[in-house]
Amino acid sequence: MGFRKDFLWGGAIAAHQAEGAWDVDGKGISIADVMTAGDNVTKTPRRITRGVLEGEDYPNHLGIDFYHHYKEDIALFAEMGFKAFRTSIAWTRIYPNGDDETPNEAGLKFYDDMFDECRKYGIEPVITLSHFEMPYHLADKYNGFMDRRCIDFFVRYAKTCFERYKGKVKYWMTFNEINNQAEFVKMGAHHLVQEGAVLVKEGDDIEKMMYTSAHHELLASALAVKACHEIDPAAKIGCMIGMNGVYPATSNPEDVLNAQKAMQQKYYYVEVHVRGHYASGMLKKFERKGYDFILPGDNEILAEGKVDYIGFSYYMSFATKYTGRFGDTFDFSEEDYVRNTYLKASDWGWQIDPVGLRWCLNWFNDRFELPMMIVENGFGAYDKRLEDGTVDDQYRIDYLKAHIKAMRDAVNYDGVDLLGYTMWAPIDIVSASTGEYDKRYGFIYVDYNNAHEGDMSRSRKKSFYWYKKVCETNGEEL
Ligand code: BG6
Repeated sequence: MGFRKDFLWGGAIAAHQAEGAWDVDGKGISIADVMTAGDNVTKTPRRITRGVLEGEDYPNHLGIDFYHHYKEDIALFAEMGFKAFRTSIAWTRIYPNGDDETPNEAGLKFYDDMFDECRKYGIEPVITLSHFEMPYHLADKYNGFMDRRCIDFFVRYAKTCFERYKGKVKYWMTFNEINNQAEFVKMGAHHLVQEGAVLVKEGDDIEKMMYTSAHHELLASALAVKACHEIDPAAKIGCMIGMNGVYPATSNPEDVLNAQKAMQQKYYYVEVHVRGHYASGMLKKFERKGYDFILPGDNEILAEGKVDYIGFSYYMSFATKYTGRFGDTFDFSEEDYVRNTYLKASDWGWQIDPVGLRWCLNWFNDRFELPMMIVENGFGAYDKRLEDGTVDDQYRIDYLKAHIKAMRDAVNYDGVDLLGYTMWAPIDIVSASTGEYDKRYGFIYVDYNNAHEGDMSRSRKKSFYWYKKVCETNGEEL
């Protein structure tokens, strides 16, 4: 009973939310570098600007300056007993424009040094190749993954990484939360830009664009998986899915079917990654809509690029009620979500559901029977620093404790094969959805806020000591 002996306890961040140094050592502009700051209090959403504009606030330009602080930060992770550290490589450090012929040596060297620093403490780097970080030039010039040439650019970048970090990185993932874009109807342009880095114009058929660019991403992912297996057979490469299970709001069969349809629409990506082909329901949908983006040869590529494990993030669950809007097709849109009255929510409205994590682990396990890694799970909150400099973040401990218990039950009682757990995020960083500093997830407090006040110094919160115990006891003591 319990977690495997080599269970990978750790934490996860992403390059663009932490590194800062956005234009240092030859780095190019990424999609994240043209996203402005938002604010949860005033309900100001992030905006995407055409290029970097004077006078705008771009929080990812500074991040938490992990680029210059990584030694200090990794030492703190080691103090907690981390066995793994998940982050991403900023594509634009390696290929600043995305379509460059040769990689940028200074960018490659940064990750060499950072991975060495992890290994010094016996910490396994778990690396995402693309975490909402496509080179802006590719979005601007090629309209991102709408253009098949971006598949080649991504594969070139991936191969460069596999060759350079062979032996240093054992766990890879291709595209972070590739399936987020499935909720295109309401989130539309914003999410298309984040995932497929496609810039949407007035009048565009965004549904068709989403499925097309997602298909090209899936091809790019499959080709990268194949290349990884060839270049470094000892490495494991997975997909990364944003998993938030969708429940029916009631036992009305139409709500139940609607929830099932929502799951199919949001998670068809997993089937493609794991089984190497589309589910028949999705092919039927494409046929019905007259989409013809699957070209001869594509199915062979997908079949040859099956992943070794499923990486996923889990923060919350959703519930849906059927409105009849889409008739017999049961197509699903974000507007079909309803509040789940059984659950409490964070200050950002994210519904807290630890049992849902066990449900999701079972959902994956029943279908795919692959090892899994929970590569993100955490609680964003407004933390208050006390006079003595500490933070009493018991709410974060409570959230994580309940979720770790749920995953332990999935291992002990449901037979789930779990490789590791890298919580999000061990250190305060810039929020992806809102661009805020004040939405904090960390065990480590970073002295910096939305108003750009603070000296970026790091300090330990109460949860730091709690998680240290969790790592030390392999999840026995929560
Ligand atoms: C995931 C992303 O969706 O959620 C992360 O992979 C992100 O990049 C995390 O930071 C938490 O979301 P947010 O918006 O609170 O930062």
